Amino acid sequence: MRQPLIAGNWKMYLDIGKAIKLTESLLAVVEYLEDREVVICPPFTMLYPIGRMVRDKHLKLGGQNLYPAAEGAFTGEISPDMLLDCWCRYVILGHSERRQYFHETDEFINQKVKSALAAGQERRQVNLTPILCVGEREAERSAGNQESVVAAQLSGNLAGLTAEEAGRVVIAYEPVWAIGTGRTATPQDAQAMHGFVRQWLAREYGAGVAENTRILYGGSVKPENVDSLLLQPDIDGALVGGASLKAESFIRIIKYEV
Ligand code: PGA
Repeated sequence: MRQPLIAGNWKMYLDIGKAIKLTESLLAVVEYLEDREVVICPPFTMLYPIGRMVRDKHLKLGGQNLYPAAEGAFTGEISPDMLLDCWCRYVILGHSERRQYFHETDEFINQKVKSALAAGQERRQVNLTPILCVGEREAERSAGNQESVVAAQLSGNLAGLTAEEAGRVVIAYEPVWAIGTGRTATPQDAQAMHGFVRQWLAREYGAGVAENTRILYGGSVKPENVDSLLLQPDIDGALVGGASLKAESFIRIIKYEV
């Protein structure tokens, strides 16, 4: 059984005051949503105060990025253990904005995935679960190449992982043309890609890993479309950008009904 997961990606928005208010509103609701997981991913500067608010709660915290080293002279970067220190249990990796604006390659994202999976295991017995984002651009879909593009990202980003390690990764399918544009994939198109990703996982790591892996949809998820998306058999949750920044819309999304 895959527990549905809804994650809010706050990107580079909000300030600490607004973030705390939004977290308070979410805490009041999430405690009662025991059948699903809800994760918020604020900017780095807000992780510590928000981590203190959520550390014993059902609401979970995630980072938006990490640098794949335990420590070192990497000015401006944040290590997996630093995320764990702030009570993060998830980290978004390979987001299309990082691929596009910060030129992250599949190989670099692969190092980040490995580094997240290795973090915390020995010292603290907690997991830092990667939410690995994949998805095609508009021109790639128009050319009918969405499956080969996503397959190449998956094989590059998960390269060298054992089946046990791959089984600890959450995948987010985010068609780039749907992110922040208001153009959501239809539930049928999204389902087709999610089914493809699950088949790919089955081929690489076996039926058990494929059955247990949560595959989130991302790209203009809103209160109006969340129910029909999550109704699809292979859509196990959502990665939400814009609509996660306001309590009203995000609360409606996390209370989705199928
Ligand atoms: P959006 O962003 O919901 O604003 O389209 C999704 C994302 O970037 O993860």
